[in-house]
Amino acid sequence: MSVARLVTRFTEGKRDGAARAGRRQFLAWLARGTLAGAGAIVVGQVLRFLSYQPASENTTIIALGQPEDYPPGVHYVRAAQTYLGRDTEGWYALDAVCTHLGCLVEPAKDGLFSCPCHGSYFHGDGRVKTGPATKPLRHLYLWVDQDGLLTVDRTREVSSTVRLLL
Ligand code: FES
Repeated sequence: MSVARLVTRFTEGKRDGAARAGRRQFLAWLARGTLAGAGAIVVGQVLRFLSYQPASENTTIIALGQPEDYPPGVHYVRAAQTYLGRDTEGWYALDAVCTHLGCLVEPAKDGLFSCPCHGSYFHGDGRVKTGPATKPLRHLYLWVDQDGLLTVDRTREVSSTVRLLL
């Protein structure tokens, strides 16, 4: 083997080794970066979880609007997760939160409410028609505030027969 050929082989081997070392270094850097990113995400989520503050008492009292805004019937008020109803007896507020596991019920045929999560059905007055829910939808305390707005208190449950007369 000639000297020139030996030198060529030697330099090629050196180049391969350098390329392998560079690749290894890059992969190590990539792995460290990925781990650092994942760690930052986990730490961020843990901090967010630990800093969670439940809604204050005030956010459970929600103005629904002027009585004139609601014709007779049942109207969903998203901000309050409440169905505001008005029948011949008066006004009422029905909690839209399913008593099974907390999904929001939706209007269904024949004046019923259905739960999209596990298929419970409720009568228009909140009574359970079919489970798995076993408790009726809650009727919530409803009044007119000093500004003339229908207002609901999501923390105060009332009997299903209670109506607000205006
Ligand atoms: S959450 Fe409504 S039926 Fe399960």
